[in-house]
Amino acid sequence: MRLMRPALASAAARRLHSRAAAAHDVDAVLQLAFDFQAFGIHVRPLQRRFELRALLEELARRAPRAVLEIGTANGGTLLAFTRLAAPDAHIISIDLPAGPFGGGYPRWKLPLYRSFAAPRQRLDLLRADSHRPETLAQVRSLLDERPLDFLFIDADHTCDGVREDYEAYGPLLRPGGLIAFHDILPPAPPFRQAGEDATNELPGEVWRLWAQLRDRLPSREIIDPSGSGCMGIGLITV
Ligand SMILES: C[S@@+](CC[C@H](N)C(=O)[O-])C[C@H]1O[C@@H](n2cnc3c(N)ncnc32)[C@H](O)[C@@H]1O
Repeated sequence: MRLMRPALASAAARRLHSRAAAAHDVDAVLQLAFDFQAFGIHVRPLQRRFELRALLEELARRAPRAVLEIGTANGGTLLAFTRLAAPDAHIISIDLPAGPFGGGYPRWKLPLYRSFAAPRQRLDLLRADSHRPETLAQVRSLLDERPLDFLFIDADHTCDGVREDYEAYGPLLRPGGLIAFHDILPPAPPFRQAGEDATNELPGEVWRLWAQLRDRLPSREIIDPSGSGCMGIGLITV
């Protein structure tokens, strides 16, 4: 089945699209994102359900009309944001193929992700490095002067990487717009151990930027109380 998945992506997309049409509230959207499975294809978010729920409740109140997600991977957060955005929203996703902290998504998933959009929504999928000036220029051009209502930063989790995303795309928000950062808690060991015990994956450093931002702007932390002390979502209103 695994090898057949590219050929089955369009059929999975049709199945997801018809289920998505019935998912109007936060619970239904969460269930769809975490549980959808067709032909071995899923879109599971790389999130704690408790934390994503709280973020989606905030989005459902706001019904954003212009959304940018940096870091899409399996597509679960993109699906959820798209379903809870305004019926005529413009949603843009940026993800670097084979990028760090999740690995991006293969080209064959494009029809599946396109199926997330409601009939009057517009969804642009950029397979690109968010740090490249051309990518920022492309986002600006797609938005055509329209400010963002919501920005989700969940891509390069190094301190410099997340800062670059914040500094490049944060100015695209309207006053009162919302920026959410994923993984604001320091990673659990072994990332913080030095030497032989450390893994060779890059450590998440979003918490370093978050520590600087959270007191400068109106902010809120969403942290699963039953979690193991990692992940967490930080919200700032600009
Ligand atoms: C943690 S995953 C995103 C998870 C997704 N938001 C979710 O919750 O299901 C991070 C993604 O960021 C992408 N990424 C890493 N560095 C990037 C960069 N510089 N530009 C664009 N995407 C990047 C990776 O390819 C990966 O797919």
